[in-house]
Amino acid sequence: TRVLVLNGPNLGRLGVREPEVYGSATLADLRESAVRWGAEAGLDVEVRQTDDEAELVGWLHEAVDQRAAVVLNPAAFTHYSYALRDAAAQVTTAGLALIEVHLSNPMARESFRRHSVVGPVATGTIAGFGFDSYRLALLALAGQTR
Ligand code: DQA
Repeated sequence: TRVLVLNGPNLGRLGVREPEVYGSATLADLRESAVRWGAEAGLDVEVRQTDDEAELVGWLHEAVDQRAAVVLNPAAFTHYSYALRDAAAQVTTAGLALIEVHLSNPMARESFRRHSVVGPVATGTIAGFGFDSYRLALLALAGQTR
């Protein structure tokens, strides 16, 4: 099964950005781990990151067209991007899984992070476990798709 692991704005700064919140590992480390976890679970994983809303929306369209499952960390777009929500809804209504993930636990942070516009159209959400949020999402996809 093909899986797109898509990351939104500022996640390219992992390792540098607020390490007390997001840890000291980098996006390159995440890519390496996610590809390995995926391979172990029989998934063909590709990890991408962009700061650009339009590009992220386009990748969700690509997931629909290629019939790929999605692990999505929408980052700050989580909280306000209806464009991203509408694109995510196209993935799940096409019968493909889309798992929303977060490194931190947004429910335990500032109040503006407590609301996700993506959550209601996601298959499920995993938050608060650092890189393991992605690992758990991939395990869930493997169980769901084989
Ligand atoms: C995040 C949480 C968001 O609130 C924040 O804007 C991010 C990262 C996380 O992975 O914990 O950029 O999605």
